[in-house]
Amino acid sequence: MTAAPSPRCYRITELTTEQLRARLPEALQIYVTAMNYPPATAQQRAPMWSAHMLRAGWRCIGAFSDRDELIGIGYGYLGAPGQWWHEQVRRGLLSSGGDADSWLDDYFELTELHVHPGSQGGGLGEEILRRLLSGAQGGKVLLSTPEGPTRAWKLYRRVGFADVLRNYRFTGDPRPFAVLGRPLPLEAV
Ligand SMILES: CC(C)(COP(=O)(O)OP(=O)(O)OC[C@H]1O[C@@H](n2cnc3c(N)ncnc32)[C@H](O)[C@@H]1OP(=O)(O)O)[C@@H](O)C(=O)NCCC(=O)NCCS
Repeated sequence: MTAAPSPRCYRITELTTEQLRARLPEALQIYVTAMNYPPATAQQRAPMWSAHMLRAGWRCIGAFSDRDELIGIGYGYLGAPGQWWHEQVRRGLLSSGGDADSWLDDYFELTELHVHPGSQGGGLGEEILRRLLSGAQGGKVLLSTPEGPTRAWKLYRRVGFADVLRNYRFTGDPRPFAVLGRPLPLEAV
């Protein structure tokens, strides 16, 4: 059994593909724990996270405890035609009369942002988000998140994300999602 992560964050740093690969089981563990997914989801997602690392504009930020445990992770990359998420959002925007061409041009897709539950509620998610976006390519950032009042929603609204699509159903997931976006860069606060 692994020890419970310390809630105190020791360092937040950009991770290279090699560094994330070396910590991938830990990162996926945070993901399934934070999202409350079944443990088997971690292994299923590993090939996808590895493929994402090879995409143009990929950038990743990790947060570590004073015991060098990974306690938070965020990454994204430049969205492009042909990518599953891009095509799903395009379909949603077209069917709802949204401006697919302008939203889906020159954007950074914020793909994952997760903080271990033991370290949530202290501003760490926002710090990872800001660090990630401060070096992100693209004229805007887009993300999708399950609908509902969640801490993620509060965070995204606080940093100025606006509705792009609401109550959207991605193929293969029964939950309604929101797609949110905002221009880059984030203004300094
Ligand atoms: C979404 C998520 C990444 C946000 O990270 P977080 O560290 O919990 O949240 P934030 O950085 O937004 O911090 C917010 C809280 O910290 C508090 N806070 C902010 N700065 C602080 C500081 N310096 N000291 C103490 N508390 C602080 C805020 O008051 C806020 O509290 P509240 O949410 O209870 O009102 C995290 O909650 C998570 O992993 N959730 C589950 C997975 C998920 O939904 N991911 C997003 C999928 S799209």
